[in-house]
Amino acid sequence: MSVATRIASDSDLQFLSEVDGHVSRHMLADLVALGRVMVAAVDGAAVGCLRWGMFWDEVPFMNFLWVVAEHRGHGVGTTLVEAWEKSQVAAGHNMVLTSTVSAETAQHFYRRLGYVDSGALFLPEEPTELILRKALAD
Ligand SMILES: CC(C)(COP(=O)(O)OP(=O)(O)OC[C@H]1O[C@@H](n2cnc3c(N)ncnc32)[C@H](O)[C@@H]1OP(=O)(O)O)[C@@H](O)C(=O)NCCC(=O)NCCS
Repeated sequence: MSVATRIASDSDLQFLSEVDGHVSRHMLADLVALGRVMVAAVDGAAVGCLRWGMFWDEVPFMNFLWVVAEHRGHGVGTTLVEAWEKSQVAAGHNMVLTSTVSAETAQHFYRRLGYVDSGALFLPEEPTELILRKALAD
């Protein structure tokens, strides 16, 4: 299976709004315009996405990562994260951040990719959110 990654465009908005219910379609459109969403495609069809923002306005922070259920376990998530990290190195960054709910097994996915614990976020009525960071090679 060959996975291609690219920066999302307006033509991906339908897919993005179907899989990413955390933010409005309007916000997704703004983020796509800013180039802050990446898509993974298999045979031209979108099967995953990664959306990010800037912590402190200067450190890339992966806000959302999703692979369509039928395509999980085949390296799509890894390909997306590695492509994003590469793009952040090219943009001059030497560290990236993300977070995940501590109870979720997805933390193991990030640890396999070299992300290490960097703190926790405690919000009322919410499970603890782990903050993870990764130093990027020059
Ligand atoms: C987490 C997610 C993005 C991983 O994508 P994926 O394409 O399935 O991951 P990969 O195939 O690249 O997996 C890479 C490795 O991580 C492991 N892994 C992936 N998801 C895992 C999980 N939830 N728990 C434990 N290990 C996991 C895989 O077993 C694989 O190990 P291997 O190399 O020894 O085979 C995907 O499962 C997903 O979209 N899950 C639902 C949304 C989610 O949890 N997003 C992250 C929230 S913070």
